[in-house]
Amino acid sequence: MNRETTTPSVTSMPGPNAERWADRHHEHAAPSTYVYDFVWDPAAPATGPFCTDIDGNVLMDFTSHVGGAPLGYNHPSVIERLREFDLVDPLTIAGQDFYVSGQNVGESGLPGPTELMERLVGTTSQYGLDTVFLSNSGAEAVENGIKIAYDHTGGEYAITFDGAFHGRTLGALSLNRSKAVHRRGYPSISDVHTIPFCDDTNASGTEPCGCGYFTAEGSQLRSLLDPDRGAVGASDVAYCIVEPIQGEGGYRLPSDAFMRDLATVCDERDILLIADEIQAGIGRTGELWASDQFPIEPDVITSAKGLRVGATIASEDVFPEEKARISSTWGAGAIIDSALGVFTLEAIENEGLLANATARGRQAIELLDDTPLEGVVDVRGLGLMLAVEFESKSLRDDVVDAALAEGLLTLGCGQKTLRLLPPLDVTEREIDLAVELLASAVDRAA
Ligand SMILES: Cc1ncc(COP(=O)(O)O)c(C=O)c1O
Repeated sequence: MNRETTTPSVTSMPGPNAERWADRHHEHAAPSTYVYDFVWDPAAPATGPFCTDIDGNVLMDFTSHVGGAPLGYNHPSVIERLREFDLVDPLTIAGQDFYVSGQNVGESGLPGPTELMERLVGTTSQYGLDTVFLSNSGAEAVENGIKIAYDHTGGEYAITFDGAFHGRTLGALSLNRSKAVHRRGYPSISDVHTIPFCDDTNASGTEPCGCGYFTAEGSQLRSLLDPDRGAVGASDVAYCIVEPIQGEGGYRLPSDAFMRDLATVCDERDILLIADEIQAGIGRTGELWASDQFPIEPDVITSAKGLRVGATIASEDVFPEEKARISSTWGAGAIIDSALGVFTLEAIENEGLLANATARGRQAIELLDDTPLEGVVDVRGLGLMLAVEFESKSLRDDVVDAALAEGLLTLGCGQKTLRLLPPLDVTEREIDLAVELLASAVDRAA
């Protein structure tokens, strides 16, 4: 499959094999998010954003496996590196009980968890974050992030934002404020305060904003923590957790004024700031961390998805000293996943993928802005974290379906927004092609 000439080609979506496979899968699979019957055939040709499903349909994947495959399909730097290794078993070890010397696996240079942590702290030194706890998923990265924050501060209160999504384990779930389906009826950790997330791009910080974060008295965060009038004493706050760009909540970009105020208040009141970078991190916005785009200095970063493992990153003094306070059988033990994380970080650095994400993201936004798209109320994004918002949920859902029929995989987020997450090495031609397919899907759906 040649990336420079391939175009999506769909006979029927889902095709008969996909339908059969999905039926078989669902015989034993618990109901979950399953958006559509796209069944990828890993044995068939795939490159960059292009892949083939089990009916031979060629699709363009602008979801990058919900951000979990940021280099797309069969990226040469990953595939060639993996081929070098004579792999052994077990490749996932009980990581917090033993260590593994990744360098010796198969007598080759397969980087393991140690190398991954070394690389990671090289990317967070600007924030003084030098210590990592690896885990399996984003939710676990958040769960451990809030645990170390409770431990370190002794505080009982948490601060989260309208529209937030932090995962589906009970602790992380308690901080979600995006969709009722995630939280309804489940018990919550106590004392979580919710503050508006300011995505009013005109917000100045000196006048009330459209989101309600800035008020005549200053900001809602400032008022909540006000020593005279506030409901919460700053010393009782364990952490404030924010997605630098909200993901599930609808690809909402914060105003600069909001981020500045948030960081200033946390700084003044000595509150631990956790940046949940699980969706926006690892190069997606055109910087390695989305925090790098804003005037904030997180005390804890949570990562996963594009990193291929979960990671909670903070400074050594924020982590508990006591042994076994945090641990997991598979924590820090998945050699292949850690190696994939290292290859991904290396590719981002060596192949100039941050600059590519910035340039291609701008191209996508300009093209989308210049294309008449009926029913679209907003086009926004940063780097390759791109969103098209529609006037209604039903139109958005129809466009996701129509795009699939055109051979373009997209995903919804928020109430009526469609998100595009192309691979970080997406080309100019691929962006042109995707916008054409999306425009034709919008025509069909509208
Ligand atoms: C910002 C954010 N935090 C946490 C999570 C949870 O990650 P996981 O699904 O790997 O548990 C997600 C997943 O989409 C996310 O977008």
